[in-house]
Amino acid sequence: MQDMKSGNSLFDWFNQRLHLTELKAMAEKKEVPLHKHSVWYYMGGITLMYIAIQVVTGILLMVYYVPALDSAHASILKLNSKVEFGWFIRSLHSWGANLMIFFVILHLFSTYFMKAYRKPREITWFSGIFLLVLSLAFGFTGYLLPWDEVSFFATKIGLDIAGKMPLLGEPIAYMLRGGAEIGQETLSRFFVIHVAILPLLLIGLVGVHVLLVQMHGMSTPKSVLEKNGKNLKKEKFFPNFLMKDLLVWVLAFNGLAMLVTLSPWGLGPEADPYAPAPMGIKPEWYFLAPFQALKLIPAQVGPMEGELFGIMAMMLVGLVLLTVPFWDRGDSESRSKFATVFGIVVLVAAAFFTVWGAM
Ligand code: HEM
Repeated sequence: MQDMKSGNSLFDWFNQRLHLTELKAMAEKKEVPLHKHSVWYYMGGITLMYIAIQVVTGILLMVYYVPALDSAHASILKLNSKVEFGWFIRSLHSWGANLMIFFVILHLFSTYFMKAYRKPREITWFSGIFLLVLSLAFGFTGYLLPWDEVSFFATKIGLDIAGKMPLLGEPIAYMLRGGAEIGQETLSRFFVIHVAILPLLLIGLVGVHVLLVQMHGMSTPKSVLEKNGKNLKKEKFFPNFLMKDLLVWVLAFNGLAMLVTLSPWGLGPEADPYAPAPMGIKPEWYFLAPFQALKLIPAQVGPMEGELFGIMAMMLVGLVLLTVPFWDRGDSESRSKFATVFGIVVLVAAAFFTVWGAM
């Protein structure tokens, strides 16, 4: 009774129940280093903002979308042409998905080159790699849902390639397809994975990832520490850095809104599973690099089938990236250099094959 009397504002009411002052103190304890690479600290936050947009627009799209072979395409057509602002929400979701994946990749490489994966942030790194896999899975499953010609054949190619993976490839591809061919079963499965399974996993894993960042604070690159030592400038995360984060989010949202209004997301003709695949079908840009690289591998490499060889080589590159916190711990200059060169080679090769694939 006494407490309620002394704290008569709305804030006090919530504070007594939710311990807001303690949460604020925790946020205030975190400091963000200020140096010439600090701009990269915004990338994770931008990704987070785009995820929030995906959740909101995704829920709105579900109001009209029907995951059935005879109505999926028609429901998207209705959204695009009849529903008030339907085209806008759909374009926000489609462009937003692309920007989200772009920023996940940018965030991955920026933390990689700043060597933020080193002790004590190994688990932050692993959770990040799984977030990348989840983001790509979102892109792959969402692409099929409009059930247009391009999405149908691109998914077919994607599942065929996935089926070539050693051991579990074919059973997984069969399970995702729900049979030997792409049809209603595939659409239902992709829909459930896209709107229920992946969001649950993503929200849980993002929670772990951000909590770990909060626990460990932001890392400072070794070169900056060596140069500035104890004179390194820092600012409080709350409210200083968060205010800057908010400003960057407004800019990032504006970028998305510009893309949406200048180039609303289109819809191709309805998929016809019995029609021949149109010429030049390509997957989305984030799958172009492996798609293009696989095309270059000869049919047979030694005793192995060419595609299998290519897939295994790419899986090996992925494994090297995943395990980098174990083999570049910061105690060996030569391994550190190798990690940097390896990252540059992967980045340049991925960019090169993506541009080539797009042409
Ligand atoms: C859905 C995707 C992701 C979200 C929402 C997310 C979010 C964040 C946020 C908000 C931060 C703090 C600010 C920053 O450093 O940018 C952060 C830090 C970090 N993230 Fe992510 N992230 C995601 C994916 C990834 C990926 C793919 C990786 C790498 C494999 C990764 C590795 C890291 C690391 C190592 C840090 C610590 C950086 C440091 O201490 O300097 N994250 N993440």
